[in-house]
Amino acid sequence: MKFLVINGPNLNMLGLREPAIYGSKNYAALCELIERTCEEEQISAEIFQSNHEGVIVDKIQEAYGKFDGIVINPAAYTHTSVAILDALKAVAIPAVEVHISDVSLREPFRQISYAGMACLKTWKGLGFEGYAEAIRWLKAHLTEKAEG
Ligand code: DQA
Repeated sequence: MKFLVINGPNLNMLGLREPAIYGSKNYAALCELIERTCEEEQISAEIFQSNHEGVIVDKIQEAYGKFDGIVINPAAYTHTSVAILDALKAVAIPAVEVHISDVSLREPFRQISYAGMACLKTWKGLGFEGYAEAIRWLKAHLTEKAEG
């Protein structure tokens, strides 16, 4: 099973960035957790981060036919990007959404998730652990579907 894990803008600044909200661990630590979880689950994973909306759209398009699942934290583009939503719908690769913080308890402008409309499930407010839960859930979901 092959997963593409996509992280949006400013997630490369984890550790430095608003530690009271996102914690003190850096982006490399997040990548380690994702890699470790995928190894344990025998999933081959590509981790991708970009600060640019169109680059994320390109990456989702290129994923067609190459990946079984997408785990995405679109970061700020969550709340603005119809283009990312449309790309997820276009490729129709089963996708799940992760947010480190609990966006539901934050500002009104964070209450809409466009990408989430193309995702099977969302994890929020669990810190980095949300990625591990999302990866495990998506694998179980795809396995169950394949076994029919
Ligand atoms: C975030 C939440 C978004 O609202 C914010 O713009 C981010 C990170 C999170 O992981 O909690 O950049 O997606």
